Amino acid sequence: MTSQFYELCNDVAEAIQEAVSELVGKPEAGVTLRIGADGTPTEKIDEVAENAALSVLEADGRSMRLVSEELGEKVIGNKPEFTFVLDPIDGTFNAVNNIPFFCVPVAIGNSDLSDIRYGYVRNLVNGDIYTAEKGKGAFLKTLHETPYLNTGNKGIRMHVSYLSELSLLSVISYNRPHTAAINNHNVRRVRVFGCAALELCYIASGIFDAFIDMRSMLRVTDIAASKLIVEEAGGRVTDGKGKPLSTPLDVKKRVNMVASNGAAHDKLLELV
Ligand code: IPD
Ligand code: CA
Repeated sequence: MTSQFYELCNDVAEAIQEAVSELVGKPEAGVTLRIGADGTPTEKIDEVAENAALSVLEADGRSMRLVSEELGEKVIGNKPEFTFVLDPIDGTFNAVNNIPFFCVPVAIGNSDLSDIRYGYVRNLVNGDIYTAEKGKGAFLKTLHETPYLNTGNKGIRMHVSYLSELSLLSVISYNRPHTAAINNHNVRRVRVFGCAALELCYIASGIFDAFIDMRSMLRVTDIAASKLIVEEAGGRVTDGKGKPLSTPLDVKKRVNMVASNGAAHDKLLELV
Protein backbone atom coordinates (compact mmCIF):
# COMPACT_ATOMS: atom_id res chain seq x y z
CA MET A 1 0.00 0.00 0.00
CA THR A 2 1.39 3.38 -0.90
CA SER A 3 0.80 6.37 1.32
CA GLN A 4 -2.16 8.67 0.67
CA PHE A 5 0.50 11.33 0.03
CA TYR A 6 2.45 9.47 -2.65
CA GLU A 7 0.21 10.52 -5.51
CA LEU A 8 0.11 14.15 -4.53
CA CYS A 9 3.91 14.35 -4.17
CA ASN A 10 4.42 12.42 -7.38
CA ASP A 11 1.99 14.61 -9.34
CA VAL A 12 3.82 17.71 -8.12
CA ALA A 13 7.24 16.26 -9.01
CA GLU A 14 6.05 15.18 -12.46
CA ALA A 15 4.58 18.61 -13.16
CA ILE A 16 7.91 20.20 -12.15
CA GLN A 17 9.90 17.75 -14.25
CA GLU A 18 7.83 18.56 -17.32
CA ALA A 19 7.87 22.31 -16.72
CA VAL A 20 11.67 22.56 -16.34
CA SER A 21 12.67 20.04 -19.01
CA GLU A 22 13.17 22.71 -21.68
CA LEU A 23 15.09 24.99 -19.32
CA VAL A 24 17.76 22.66 -17.89
CA GLY A 25 21.22 23.71 -19.08
CA LYS A 26 20.00 26.92 -20.74
CA PRO A 27 21.45 30.32 -19.72
CA GLU A 28 17.95 31.83 -19.30
CA ALA A 29 17.21 29.23 -16.60
CA GLY A 30 19.69 30.97 -14.32
CA VAL A 31 18.45 34.52 -14.73
CA THR A 32 17.78 36.00 -11.28
CA LEU A 33 14.25 37.34 -11.01
CA ARG A 34 14.25 38.52 -7.40
CA ILE A 35 15.25 37.55 -3.87
CA GLY A 36 12.97 34.76 -2.70
CA ALA A 37 11.25 34.41 0.67
CA ASP A 38 14.18 32.29 1.93
CA GLY A 39 16.57 35.20 1.35
CA THR A 40 18.41 33.68 -1.64
CA PRO A 41 17.95 34.54 -5.35
CA THR A 42 14.95 33.08 -7.18
CA GLU A 43 16.15 32.09 -10.63
CA LYS A 44 13.88 31.56 -13.61
CA ILE A 45 13.99 27.75 -13.31
CA ASP A 46 13.02 27.98 -9.60
CA GLU A 47 9.99 30.10 -10.41
CA VAL A 48 8.83 27.91 -13.30
CA ALA A 49 9.14 24.86 -11.03
CA GLU A 50 7.27 26.46 -8.13
CA ASN A 51 4.42 27.67 -10.38
CA ALA A 52 4.02 24.18 -11.82
CA ALA A 53 3.77 22.78 -8.27
CA LEU A 54 1.29 25.44 -7.22
CA SER A 55 -1.09 24.58 -10.08
CA VAL A 56 -1.19 20.93 -8.97
CA LEU A 57 -1.67 21.79 -5.29
CA GLU A 58 -4.43 24.32 -5.94
CA ALA A 59 -6.30 21.77 -8.08
CA ASP A 60 -5.95 19.00 -5.46
CA GLY A 61 -8.97 20.09 -3.42
CA ARG A 62 -7.41 19.47 0.01
CA SER A 63 -6.69 22.45 2.21
CA MET A 64 -3.01 22.72 3.19
CA ARG A 65 -0.31 25.10 4.29
CA LEU A 66 2.37 25.27 1.60
CA VAL A 67 5.90 26.12 2.73
CA SER A 68 8.02 26.60 -0.38
CA GLU A 69 11.49 28.04 -0.87
CA GLU A 70 10.65 30.91 -3.22
CA LEU A 71 7.18 32.04 -2.08
CA GLY A 72 7.65 31.32 1.62
CA GLU A 73 4.24 30.36 2.92
CA LYS A 74 0.77 30.16 1.40
CA VAL A 75 -2.44 28.71 2.79
CA ILE A 76 -4.49 26.82 0.19
CA GLY A 77 -8.17 26.43 1.10
CA ASN A 78 -9.46 27.51 4.47
CA LYS A 79 -8.73 24.70 6.92
CA PRO A 80 -5.22 23.28 6.40
CA GLU A 81 -4.99 19.52 7.07
CA PHE A 82 -1.16 19.37 6.84
CA THR A 83 1.93 21.34 5.84
CA PHE A 84 3.37 20.61 2.40
CA VAL A 85 7.11 21.44 2.51
CA LEU A 86 8.60 21.92 -0.94
CA ASP A 87 11.86 22.89 -2.57
CA PRO A 88 10.75 23.25 -6.21
CA ILE A 89 14.34 22.50 -7.35
CA ASP A 90 17.12 21.42 -5.02
CA GLY A 91 20.43 21.83 -6.84
CA THR A 92 19.54 24.86 -8.95
CA PHE A 93 23.20 25.56 -9.84
CA ASN A 94 23.52 22.01 -11.15
CA ALA A 95 20.28 22.22 -13.16
CA VAL A 96 21.17 25.56 -14.74
CA ASN A 97 24.60 24.29 -15.74
CA ASN A 98 23.43 20.87 -16.91
CA ILE A 99 25.32 19.09 -14.13
CA PRO A 100 23.18 15.94 -13.78
CA PHE A 101 22.40 16.04 -10.04
CA PHE A 102 19.25 17.86 -8.95
CA CYS A 103 15.89 16.86 -7.51
CA VAL A 104 12.49 17.75 -6.07
CA PRO A 105 12.11 17.10 -2.32
CA VAL A 106 8.65 17.17 -0.68
CA ALA A 107 7.75 16.55 2.96
CA ILE A 108 4.37 16.34 4.67
CA GLY A 109 4.35 17.51 8.25
CA ASN A 110 2.83 19.89 10.70
CA SER A 111 4.90 22.54 12.45
CA ASP A 112 8.59 21.55 12.66
CA LEU A 113 11.23 19.08 11.49
CA SER A 114 10.37 16.62 14.26
CA ASP A 115 6.83 15.96 13.05
CA ILE A 116 7.43 15.11 9.39
CA ARG A 117 5.32 12.05 8.57
CA TYR A 118 6.01 11.55 4.86
CA GLY A 119 9.03 12.25 2.68
CA TYR A 120 9.42 12.06 -1.10
CA VAL A 121 12.48 12.89 -3.22
CA ARG A 122 12.57 12.55 -7.00
CA ASN A 123 15.89 12.60 -8.83
CA LEU A 124 15.01 14.79 -11.84
CA VAL A 125 17.83 13.34 -13.94
CA ASN A 126 17.29 9.56 -13.74
CA GLY A 127 13.76 9.37 -12.28
CA ASP A 128 14.72 7.54 -9.06
CA ILE A 129 12.12 8.08 -6.33
CA TYR A 130 12.94 7.86 -2.61
CA THR A 131 10.05 7.72 -0.12
CA ALA A 132 9.48 7.18 3.58
CA GLU A 133 6.47 7.12 5.82
CA LYS A 134 6.95 7.52 9.57
CA GLY A 135 7.32 4.09 11.18
CA LYS A 136 7.08 2.23 7.86
CA GLY A 137 10.61 2.25 6.44
CA ALA A 138 12.29 3.95 3.49
CA PHE A 139 12.10 2.83 -0.14
CA LEU A 140 13.75 3.45 -3.49
CA LYS A 141 11.93 3.05 -6.78
CA THR A 142 14.51 2.81 -9.52
CA LEU A 143 14.86 1.50 -13.03
CA HIS A 144 17.85 -0.51 -11.80
CA GLU A 145 16.04 -2.57 -9.17
CA THR A 146 17.58 -5.64 -7.56
CA PRO A 147 14.68 -8.09 -7.99
CA TYR A 148 15.08 -10.03 -4.71
CA LEU A 149 14.76 -6.88 -2.65
CA ASN A 150 11.80 -5.54 -4.53
CA THR A 151 8.84 -5.15 -2.19
CA GLY A 152 6.17 -4.30 -4.73
CA ASN A 153 4.98 -0.88 -5.78
CA LYS A 154 7.00 0.95 -3.14
CA GLY A 155 10.29 -0.33 -4.62
CA ILE A 156 13.37 -1.54 -2.77
CA ARG A 157 13.53 -1.23 1.00
CA MET A 158 16.63 0.79 1.91
CA HIS A 159 19.03 0.44 4.82
CA VAL A 160 21.96 2.62 5.84
CA SER A 161 25.51 1.22 5.86
CA TYR A 162 27.10 -0.45 8.90
CA LEU A 163 30.64 1.03 8.93
CA SER A 164 31.80 2.71 12.12
CA GLU A 165 35.58 3.04 11.63
CA LEU A 166 36.31 6.67 10.61
CA SER A 167 39.12 5.74 8.23
CA LEU A 168 36.69 3.61 6.19
CA LEU A 169 33.88 6.15 5.82
CA SER A 170 32.60 7.78 2.63
CA VAL A 171 31.31 11.20 3.67
CA ILE A 172 29.54 14.10 2.00
CA SER A 173 30.78 17.12 3.89
CA TYR A 174 30.14 20.85 3.82
CA ASN A 175 32.48 22.17 6.49
CA ARG A 176 32.10 24.93 9.01
CA PRO A 177 33.67 28.21 7.72
CA HIS A 178 37.49 28.27 8.01
CA THR A 179 37.80 24.66 9.17
CA ALA A 180 37.90 21.35 7.36
CA ALA A 181 37.06 19.05 10.24
CA ILE A 182 36.18 16.21 7.89
CA ASN A 183 38.74 15.77 5.15
CA ASN A 184 40.40 13.23 2.88
CA HIS A 185 42.90 12.38 5.62
CA ASN A 186 40.57 11.41 8.47
CA VAL A 187 37.93 9.55 6.44
CA ARG A 188 38.19 7.28 3.38
CA ARG A 189 36.63 9.67 0.86
CA VAL A 190 34.87 13.04 0.78
CA ARG A 191 32.47 14.17 -1.95
CA VAL A 192 30.24 17.22 -2.44
CA PHE A 193 27.54 17.08 -5.14
CA GLY A 194 25.58 20.30 -4.48
CA CYS A 195 22.08 18.95 -3.84
CA ALA A 196 21.50 18.23 -0.17
CA ALA A 197 18.16 16.41 -0.51
CA LEU A 198 19.60 13.87 -2.92
CA GLU A 199 22.92 13.59 -1.11
CA LEU A 200 21.00 12.59 2.03
CA CYS A 201 19.19 9.85 0.10
CA TYR A 202 22.64 8.36 -0.58
CA ILE A 203 23.06 7.95 3.17
CA ALA A 204 19.69 6.19 3.36
CA SER A 205 20.60 3.82 0.53
CA GLY A 206 23.97 2.99 2.12
CA ILE A 207 26.17 4.34 -0.70
CA PHE A 208 27.63 6.99 1.63
CA ASP A 209 28.03 6.66 5.40
CA ALA A 210 27.44 10.26 6.47
CA PHE A 211 26.34 13.73 5.35
CA ILE A 212 27.56 16.75 7.29
CA ASP A 213 26.67 20.40 6.72
CA MET A 214 27.97 22.82 9.35
CA ARG A 215 27.70 26.07 7.34
CA SER A 216 24.41 27.22 8.96
CA MET A 217 22.99 27.49 5.44
CA LEU A 218 20.63 24.55 5.01
CA ARG A 219 16.92 25.38 4.88
CA VAL A 220 14.11 23.15 6.14
CA THR A 221 12.92 22.83 2.54
CA ASP A 222 16.27 21.21 1.58
CA ILE A 223 16.22 18.56 4.31
CA ALA A 224 12.71 17.86 5.68
CA ALA A 225 11.91 14.94 3.34
CA SER A 226 15.37 13.37 3.41
CA LYS A 227 15.67 13.60 7.19
CA LEU A 228 12.75 11.20 7.52
CA ILE A 229 14.08 9.02 4.68
CA VAL A 230 17.46 8.64 6.46
CA GLU A 231 15.81 7.91 9.82
CA GLU A 232 13.41 5.37 8.33
CA ALA A 233 16.39 3.64 6.69
CA GLY A 234 17.91 3.16 10.16
CA GLY A 235 20.15 6.24 10.24
CA ARG A 236 20.54 9.04 12.78
CA VAL A 237 20.05 12.77 12.18
CA THR A 238 21.09 15.50 14.63
CA ASP A 239 22.55 18.97 14.75
CA GLY A 240 26.32 19.40 15.24
CA LYS A 241 25.94 18.86 18.98
CA GLY A 242 24.03 15.60 18.75
CA LYS A 243 20.60 17.11 19.45
CA PRO A 244 17.51 16.08 17.45
CA LEU A 245 16.37 18.62 14.84
CA SER A 246 13.12 20.45 15.59
CA THR A 247 13.46 23.60 13.49
CA PRO A 248 10.11 25.26 12.64
CA LEU A 249 8.91 24.79 9.04
CA ASP A 250 9.91 28.29 8.01
CA VAL A 251 12.10 29.03 4.97
CA LYS A 252 14.04 31.72 6.81
CA LYS A 253 15.47 29.31 9.40
CA ARG A 254 18.93 27.78 8.94
CA VAL A 255 20.10 24.38 10.15
CA ASN A 256 23.37 22.53 10.79
CA MET A 257 23.10 18.81 10.23
CA VAL A 258 24.93 15.56 10.85
CA ALA A 259 23.17 12.58 9.23
CA SER A 260 24.82 9.19 9.39
CA ASN A 261 24.36 5.46 9.46
CA GLY A 262 24.19 5.76 13.27
CA ALA A 263 27.20 3.51 13.86
CA ALA A 264 29.68 6.31 13.12
CA HIS A 265 27.61 9.19 14.49
CA ASP A 266 29.30 9.84 17.84
CA LYS A 267 32.79 9.71 16.30
CA LEU A 268 31.74 12.20 13.62
CA LEU A 269 30.22 14.55 16.23
CA GLU A 270 33.61 14.68 17.94
CA LEU A 271 35.19 15.89 14.70
CA VAL A 272 32.64 18.58 13.81
C1 IPD B 1 21.26 24.11 -2.46
C2 IPD B 1 21.57 22.65 -2.30
C3 IPD B 1 23.00 22.43 -1.88
C4 IPD B 1 23.35 23.18 -0.65
C5 IPD B 1 23.06 24.66 -0.85
C6 IPD B 1 21.62 24.87 -1.24
P1 IPD B 1 19.17 25.08 -3.89
O1 IPD B 1 19.85 24.28 -2.65
O2 IPD B 1 20.75 22.05 -1.34
O3 IPD B 1 23.23 21.08 -1.57
O4 IPD B 1 24.72 23.02 -0.42
O5 IPD B 1 23.31 25.31 0.38
O6 IPD B 1 21.44 26.24 -1.48
O7 IPD B 1 19.54 26.52 -3.72
O8 IPD B 1 19.75 24.50 -5.11
O9 IPD B 1 17.75 24.81 -3.68
CA1 CA C 1 15.81 25.43 -4.31
